[in-house]
Amino acid sequence: MWQPTPDVVAHRGASAHRAEHTRGAYELALEQGADALECDIRVSRDGHLVCVHDRRIDRTSSARGVVSELTLAGMSDVDFGSWHRELPGTADELVNWAGPDPERGVLTLDELLGLLRDHPRPVRLFVETKHPVRYGGLVEHKLVALLARHGLAAPADPEHSPVLMMSFSQAAVRRFRAAAPRVPTVLLFDRFRSAWRNGVLPPWADIAGPGIRLLREDPGFVARAAALGRDTYCWTVDDPADIDLCQRSGVRYLATNSPASTRSHLDDS
Ligand code: G3P
Ligand code: CA
Repeated sequence: MWQPTPDVVAHRGASAHRAEHTRGAYELALEQGADALECDIRVSRDGHLVCVHDRRIDRTSSARGVVSELTLAGMSDVDFGSWHRELPGTADELVNWAGPDPERGVLTLDELLGLLRDHPRPVRLFVETKHPVRYGGLVEHKLVALLARHGLAAPADPEHSPVLMMSFSQAAVRRFRAAAPRVPTVLLFDRFRSAWRNGVLPPWADIAGPGIRLLREDPGFVARAAALGRDTYCWTVDDPADIDLCQRSGVRYLATNSPASTRSHLDDS
């Protein structure tokens, strides 16, 4: 049942404090009490779903290359952790700090689902498919197959599905819905189409996914969508004023890079 305080979704893990999309970033998000995790997925050359945001691994690793041209083995010895230069928060932590943690190997979606399966508390996962147009459905097809292997492709109660799928691509969301009709979907957008501005989403999109910039312009969107039975997932919300805006306007899922500080701000307000 819906609650007025938004669920805290750890965007790429606790990515303000650990390198995004690494096991360490997700473990920290779980320690920090995130209600859900967010990850981006791409397909490697040999058909594995890996958690990487960009088309290339250059920004987030010690190596270079395009994900779809690299094999999983080729990404297994690459350091995806050390590039992240966020300093510890307190002076004491800084004195004892050995530097950013190296993290060997790309995280696969299979491993991330395993991490959640083994976690004692139920934590949901929002999976965003990337490059859906270029590969014409391959990512969604592989996602459904992997969810089926984990017993997650047809949840008995979709309202509490452990996994939700999302994309900026309407084609991707539509394709996924056709293949896994019981898994909830989020249509992401960073500008309004006129119907969406009024809360009218296509039938295959269960949840509205506007960027925070749109809610700053038009916070009434959330209520209009709710009147039509649609919850809102808002990204990416780190600023206290934006957290307040989301809470006031009735956002249900709030994606943040910093789950601990977002949670404590929500608890204090
Ligand atoms: O959670 C949605 C948000 O992640 C979309 O933008 O670029 O961070 O994947 P991006
Ligand atoms: Ca994303």
